[in-house]
Amino acid sequence: MVFGARRTAVALVCLAVACGDETAPVGGAGGGGGTVDFPDPLGPVAAVTSTKTDRFATSGACRQCHLAGEGPELLDPVTGEDLSPVGQWRSSMMAFAARDPLYLAVVSEELAAAPDPEPVEALCIRCHGPAGSEEAGAANAHLGLDELLTGTTPAANLGRDGVTCSLCHQIQDRSLGDVESFSGGFSVGYDREMYGPHESPRTDPMEFFVEYTPAFADHIGKSELCATCHTVITPIVEDGEHVGDFVEQGPYLEWLNSSFSPGTSCASCHLPTVDSAGDPLVSAIATYPETIGPREPFGVHSFEGANAYMLTILSQNIEWTGSDVLPSELEAAAERSRLHLATAADLTIAVPAVEAGVTKVTVTVENRTAHKLPTGYPGRRLWLHAVATDAGGATVFESGSWDGAGAILGAGGARLDGAGVVLPHRDVVTSSAEVALWESVPAGSDGEPTFVPLSAVSYAKDNRILPSGWSSSGPWTKWTHPVGVGGDSTYAPGRDSVTYHLPSAAAALVIELVYESVPPALAEHLAKVPTPAAVRFSQMASQTPPRPEVIATAQRAW
Ligand code: HEC
Ligand code: HEC
Ligand code: HEC
Ligand code: HEC
Ligand code: HEC
Repeated sequence: MVFGARRTAVALVCLAVACGDETAPVGGAGGGGGTVDFPDPLGPVAAVTSTKTDRFATSGACRQCHLAGEGPELLDPVTGEDLSPVGQWRSSMMAFAARDPLYLAVVSEELAAAPDPEPVEALCIRCHGPAGSEEAGAANAHLGLDELLTGTTPAANLGRDGVTCSLCHQIQDRSLGDVESFSGGFSVGYDREMYGPHESPRTDPMEFFVEYTPAFADHIGKSELCATCHTVITPIVEDGEHVGDFVEQGPYLEWLNSSFSPGTSCASCHLPTVDSAGDPLVSAIATYPETIGPREPFGVHSFEGANAYMLTILSQNIEWTGSDVLPSELEAAAERSRLHLATAADLTIAVPAVEAGVTKVTVTVENRTAHKLPTGYPGRRLWLHAVATDAGGATVFESGSWDGAGAILGAGGARLDGAGVVLPHRDVVTSSAEVALWESVPAGSDGEPTFVPLSAVSYAKDNRILPSGWSSSGPWTKWTHPVGVGGDSTYAPGRDSVTYHLPSAAAALVIELVYESVPPALAEHLAKVPTPAAVRFSQMASQTPPRPEVIATAQRAW
């Protein structure tokens, strides 16, 4: 009787919030079954209008000389691809940081819950629209989200230009690497010096055309510069009091406690200095004046990460973003991300051992990055898809398959990763109901997983694979230590191994290493958020659902 009563209650709740995902129209108007009114989707973002202030210029000002032109400068000698700073940066996620529809959806949910929207807007725009944030801050003004998206002020235009050239190249060598520089604590001065990696640059063309002086500065290539935005620490607030901090993203802290620090900086991998043949790039760094000689090393501003999914969404919705970048440029950037992801890990399968009729095979994933794998925004996830076959080629075991919405499936095609589920860390996988999955899962004060960044107070799970050289006595372990891996002796810095227990009929094993930047549970969560930005993202995501990428494959037969 009690059981029956509870089921009725659950069914009523489902009607009210449309929790049957198969039946709820994704983000559509009226999807709330009468109790939740869904607004119209967020309208298009305004274009970036050319803007100059006493400190900043939008990226268009740099096109004249830092976009590949007619000559051989700044082009890939093999493919002919435009390797110029403008040509690459403009199709990167950093250029779209302020117009990223997922970012906007999540901010809109935070704003809907906040008693006072201003501090939330200020925080979220600080890194995603940093030049706009600086510009407004200098005038003691506030740049709100509506203004950022459609306003005509200098701050709005600079903000929409994302992590723009004149912001990053003017970050000063002040407190870099200190806690105060994290969470958007970069400082930009008023001397109009544009810092670069080359000594004695020719200064007159930039002074004349854009009124900046290019200047050599060692700190431009350092990881500490990237750390100002790539160390995201959010306040834990209880009853209006700031009671602690939560590290939402810490690739720099992870890198610092790895064998890559200090020699292999973020730029070494994210601004590669080689062409598509792997040869060092030697090129003039400006197309004007024509007499400018070649420089080396030359860093390609591709900023390749792992977010091929969002670059694809952007390519499909380019008009909505207000950008004049071609969809083909974003598709090319998505493809570069896939190639970059393929460098993230090595996958090996050991010789199987048969014990008591069970075939035990150990699979090892080695982290080739300089931070956790996966790193970055919470929810990024990596898992193993294992398929074992018998001598006749018939499947006798499978774990980690997925459906068309990017969700992970278990026994009989049942979904394993529904809302609120935290899949445990695995050292041994014995059935298709289990999956080896590496991810970070932030939790709120009730201990439950949360997709709302500012309500996170701890990690319910963080079994992401540590970088090589990570040590429990190294720096920042309080903020980078794993959570939920206890008892797994094969979880070690730089690697993790998983042992599959297969039926004795198994004669071969194929393993795919799968990466997904946006878990379907996040997209489903946002489909229930009644804000214009969430409705817009949900529309885009229902057209192109989260898409797993196979980043490595290994196989062994016995
Ligand atoms: C009229 C052409 C022109 C424009 C416009 C221009 N630059 Fe330059 N830039 C140059 C030249 C020339 C150099 C020096 C090349 C050399 O000495 O090898 C240079 C060098 C640089 C350097 C390297 C400095 C160093 O020492 O390593 C940076 C960074 C830079 N520019 C950024 C920008 C940014 C950002 C913009 C847009 C706000 C911009 N430039 C606009 C021509 C231009
Ligand atoms: C002023 C803030 C800021 C600075 C400085 C900064 N970043 Fe970023 N970066 C961002 C933001 C914001 C995003 C996320 C954009 C999004 O996904 O909406 C991002 C995204 C990225 C990505 C992910 C791209 C993808 O496609 O997944 C990479 C890689 C990256 N940055 C590398 C760097 C490197 C390397 C440096 C230092 C040279 C650096 N960033 C400096 C703010 C910054
Ligand atoms: C040895 C090469 C290497 C170095 C050094 C390196 N990275 Fe990465 N990075 C990668 C690879 C490969 C990936 C893709 C796999 C992943 O997401 O973890 C990646 C992913 C990322 C992403 C995630 C993008 C996303 O879409 O979620 C960010 C952000 C990032 N790196 C920032 C940094 C920062 C900041 C530093 C310096 C502190 C750095 N990286 C140093 C190789 C490197
Ligand atoms: C997130 C920070 C960041 C942003 C945004 C950025 N750059 Fe750079 N840029 C760098 C770093 C780091 C280097 C040094 C690369 C290296 O180590 O070789 C660099 C190098 C350069 C150089 C010298 C040529 C070279 O690569 O050696 C020029 C010119 C330049 N950038 C122009 C631009 C322009 C123009 C834009 C906007 C379209 C831009 N940058 C956006 C970080 C940035
Ligand atoms: C200290 C700098 C910083 C601040 C402040 C910041 N972000 Fe970000 N955010 C980043 C960086 C860097 C990334 C890219 C990480 C990656 O790609 O893995 C990012 C990525 C994201 C993404 C994922 C986008 C995608 O396409 O996958 C969302 C969503 C997001 N941020 C929301 C927010 C919200 C909401 C706020 C305000 C509460 C906020 N951010 C404040 C730096 C920041």
